[in-house]
Amino acid sequence: MNGRVLHVVGTRPNFVKAAPVVAALGTAGVDQVLVHTGQHYDARMSEVFFRQLGLPRPDTDLGVGSGSHARQTADLLVALEAELTARAPALAVVYGDVNSTLAAALAAAKLGVPVAHVEAGLRSFDMAMPEEVNRRLVDQLAELLFVTSPEAVGHLAREGADPARVHFVGNPMIDTLLTHLDLFDAAAARTAYGLPGRYAVVTLHRPANVDDPEAARAAARALTEAARHLDLAVPLHPRGRDALRAAGLEGAPGVHLLEPLGYVEFMSLVRGAAAVVTDSGGVQEETTVLGVPCLTLRTTTERPVTVTHGTNRLVTHSELVPALRKTLDGGPAAPPEGPPLWDGKAGPRIARVVTRWLEHHD
Ligand code: UD1
Ligand code: UDP
Repeated sequence: MNGRVLHVVGTRPNFVKAAPVVAALGTAGVDQVLVHTGQHYDARMSEVFFRQLGLPRPDTDLGVGSGSHARQTADLLVALEAELTARAPALAVVYGDVNSTLAAALAAAKLGVPVAHVEAGLRSFDMAMPEEVNRRLVDQLAELLFVTSPEAVGHLAREGADPARVHFVGNPMIDTLLTHLDLFDAAAARTAYGLPGRYAVVTLHRPANVDDPEAARAAARALTEAARHLDLAVPLHPRGRDALRAAGLEGAPGVHLLEPLGYVEFMSLVRGAAAVVTDSGGVQEETTVLGVPCLTLRTTTERPVTVTHGTNRLVTHSELVPALRKTLDGGPAAPPEGPPLWDGKAGPRIARVVTRWLEHHD
């Protein structure tokens, strides 16, 4: 095989998406380097995923850490430029839409290192979201665009991407889910977190929901009311942890505040939940495949197939409790047929495209 592939990961969702791609390229015998930027660094936000998902230990941890967008992105750029220069890969693979993704794509492009973007073409059309800025810019820079859902192909075409660069391969996050499905033990999760009856899982970390104290109060009010109908298991992302506690979730009856969970523990809880309330991108997708009703506390989604092919529904704070009650009254529904190519084979499809590409780029 010609050429080295360098993966850049830095945050919790990156790890879940990269695991099947790294595994499939390993099977294909590709020379790989795994760079962790250190954007997420707590053991519960990082190390646990490497352990549970079988990701190899990173070859480098850049230890960039937290900061304002400018500070973090600048530190990432400087550190990644040095790493890319030293490793001289034939291809840099970046995942999703976080600051590590943007910095890696930009540093690579400026060094003349071709970039592959996994999860290209998603659009919320809301430029107030930092992720929307990141994903648009990364797609402009990438040579290989790996797409998880059909509408993303259209977005890229409208933005002028050469169709030869776009590969609809399915969703590696769902590869990871299907690979570990047998480990998701809902009964064990109920016991571990003290949830004998019906419960919902809640994750909130978007700036629009947790950074502004008024938004955090509105979310906390809606959730406190929801907890009158069923228990809520709330693994708190470090962003918003203090804000949501202060806004009234701490001590609210029926609200079980938890640390961020490992992947297996989290998915076990989700699997047994009557519903999920979230603003996460990945969780909208995972609930789609598990057939768990998902109420997304956002005004837009870059993942519309989770609404059209899945169990997802966008809600405002005031719609949350009525929507939850309706969901609970409806009882469990059969999971709908999942989106096309969310079949657990995205990693091998990406590996096939990458190995072919490497053969033609000595
Ligand atoms: C980032 C991504 C977001 C993604 C999320 C996944 C960007 C712009 N945002 O958001 O798209 O959905 O990851 O979880 O890249 N912190 C810790 N420990 C950690 C990491 C962070 O305490 O291990 C705290 C720090 O106070 C930090 C804050 O969380 O300032 C936010 O972290 P950051 O990586 O900037 O953004 P996220 O909100 O995690
Ligand atoms: N996740 C986890 N433990 C948690 C919350 C989330 O393992 O406590 C997993 C879950 O698989 C989710 C992924 O981490 O899809 C990414 O999570 P996050 O919501 O932080 O990121 P986003 O998808 O919104 O960028």
